[in-house]
Amino acid sequence: MAHLHITAWVLDFILLFIATALYKQGKGKPGKILHMILRLDYLLILFSGGSLLADYMSNGAGSYLPELIVKIIAGLWAIVAMEMIGVRTSKGNPAKGWWIQFAVVAIIAIGLGFGRLPYGILP
Ligand code: HEM
Repeated sequence: MAHLHITAWVLDFILLFIATALYKQGKGKPGKILHMILRLDYLLILFSGGSLLADYMSNGAGSYLPELIVKIIAGLWAIVAMEMIGVRTSKGNPAKGWWIQFAVVAIIAIGLGFGRLPYGILP
């Protein structure tokens, strides 16, 4: 499930960059299509993250509970930020504040996911 989770958010990061670039070039239609795929991929992130979370529920989070809670808030926040960036860019509104939030929470989620929390693909 960690593989699916990583694949899903890496794909979403790429889609976000391409979709916003297309919107900025005035290519609304292909931008919209990628934005819809981006949204579908949120579901994969949530499903795979939720499944990893279910593993914690059945095994117990133990002393990792605080980091797990922060990780999940950061993950959810990253999805909200990606959607806000997408919508604001599609309307031609500035999205800088959301890009900053996205960068901060994505770094927290990735740092905790790979660096601190015990599940996953890394030894
Ligand atoms: C774009 C948003 C997200 C990013 C960048 C992200 C990043 C990561 C990373 C790097 C890992 C570690 C994988 C590994 O060690 O192999 C991870 C694991 C995990 N993620 Fe996410 N995640 C995101 C969203 C979410 C969401 C929304 C949830 C909750 C529904 C979630 C729940 C989890 C759980 C429970 C784990 C297992 C923690 C562990 O490694 O022990 N993530 N995530």
